[in-house]
Amino acid sequence: MSKKSNKMAEPKATKMDFNSAFQRTPSVIFHVKQSMEDFYLSDDTLEQITKQMEEEMVKGLGKDTNESAKVKMLPSFVQALADGSENGTFLALDLGGTNFRVLLVKLEHGEKPEMDSQIYKMPEEVITGSGEKLFDHIAQCMAEFLTRLNMKHVKLPVGFTFSFPCQQDRIDTARLISWTKGFSAEGVEGMDVVSLLREAIDRRGDIKVAIIAVVNDTVGTLMSCAYDIRDCMAGLIVGTGSNCCYMEKMKNVELLPGDEGDMCINMEWGAFGDDGALDIIRNGYDREVDCASLNKGKQLYEKMISGMYMGELVRLVLCKLTDDKVLFDGVASESLKTHGKFETAFVSQIERNVPNGYTALQNILHNLGLGALHSDCEIVEYVCEAVSTRAAYLCAAGIAAIARKIRANYPEKEELEFTVGVDGTVYRKHPTFAKNMAHKVGQLTEGRGINVKFALSYDGSGKGAALITAVAARLHMEKGKGEIVGR
Ligand code: BGC
Repeated sequence: MSKKSNKMAEPKATKMDFNSAFQRTPSVIFHVKQSMEDFYLSDDTLEQITKQMEEEMVKGLGKDTNESAKVKMLPSFVQALADGSENGTFLALDLGGTNFRVLLVKLEHGEKPEMDSQIYKMPEEVITGSGEKLFDHIAQCMAEFLTRLNMKHVKLPVGFTFSFPCQQDRIDTARLISWTKGFSAEGVEGMDVVSLLREAIDRRGDIKVAIIAVVNDTVGTLMSCAYDIRDCMAGLIVGTGSNCCYMEKMKNVELLPGDEGDMCINMEWGAFGDDGALDIIRNGYDREVDCASLNKGKQLYEKMISGMYMGELVRLVLCKLTDDKVLFDGVASESLKTHGKFETAFVSQIERNVPNGYTALQNILHNLGLGALHSDCEIVEYVCEAVSTRAAYLCAAGIAAIARKIRANYPEKEELEFTVGVDGTVYRKHPTFAKNMAHKVGQLTEGRGINVKFALSYDGSGKGAALITAVAARLHMEKGKGEIVGR
């Protein structure tokens, strides 16, 4: 076991080595290592990916190149970060995964916000049914929440965190480009989701709200972090999906008029590689994961990184190694053969518990109908590490590209230091993801006068969305347009 802890202490910058900890014959070791070669990314490859991402960013920002860019670099219409003066009571809505959350957020001049919230399940038939059903469900949850708080007749300003790629031309409209993360509700793509929500609210006729802002979760994450840490310039999510936003200079955002000030850009980096840019590193398991998804051929970078796919990648590798007769005596259980049964949460649990021995891992495998010997456990752990480390390194390449891009905006500074606010289950729960990612970002930005720090961001879609709504309302007032009315 001591060998294990050495191995974990040093993030794997080079090829993973587990020879000495292995209790298998050399041919098995060789076979497993060979099989996992496809997950190994050399420093040169990561440098190349970083450069490609940087080029994609420029392409997405360019007037003549945006159309063909896969990383869409979407303006969020958030141009100012919170400064602590925000005040008021807001309703925040959060849709982006299997749960829908409604929150009441009270902001009081830089104090810790007061919050009350409720989580509602999003049943499969709602997220894959009709758009009308989806928005009716959301409106119903809102009505239930407001009834519980006895606030049904108060016209609260609403910030709607909608965590899917959307084209915005104002802070309060968002046209869905395409669904991601297993959503497929019909008739929503191409539509303004704020209008769809307003229509659903009108159909009920029993609640009064004013939808002021619609935001991506990355943007809420950045805003929430910026409220606590002044030098926060980017927001990253590594959860069910993955994406990043950052503050860009308006003069570089060619699609919008005006050169003054900054604009928060929702990169939608999950679509990186959808034009084949990642084909050199995608392997057979990546292709299988993609083929089985609802959005085949799309979000290819996200599918190599995020929580919706990580466990499935591990499962596919374990199935292959079982077929090859190097694992579980060559016999796969029904669960192991079933799509989605190996959860990403297992990857985190397995890697977290390894320093304490294999009991937790054996329990997980037992629940999947697999009796595992110590040597099986070592292989499973190795596979989890290979898949999660690749994800962390790929994410690091994306962050390094952003860091270099931001760096170029401040040539006068000798050293640029900034914080990336981060949220998402993979980042929070996986024991080495954060460390591996930060380490690789350090390497990929070395010697460039950049110091990237990371901070966990708390409640981007509650606190962050409320802050964005407050700032939007304040700017509206400052522009002399009077109190924001919304609907
Ligand atoms: C979506 C993004 C979102 C990310 C994290 C992706 O699938 O396209 O809009 O920010 O997931 O939730």
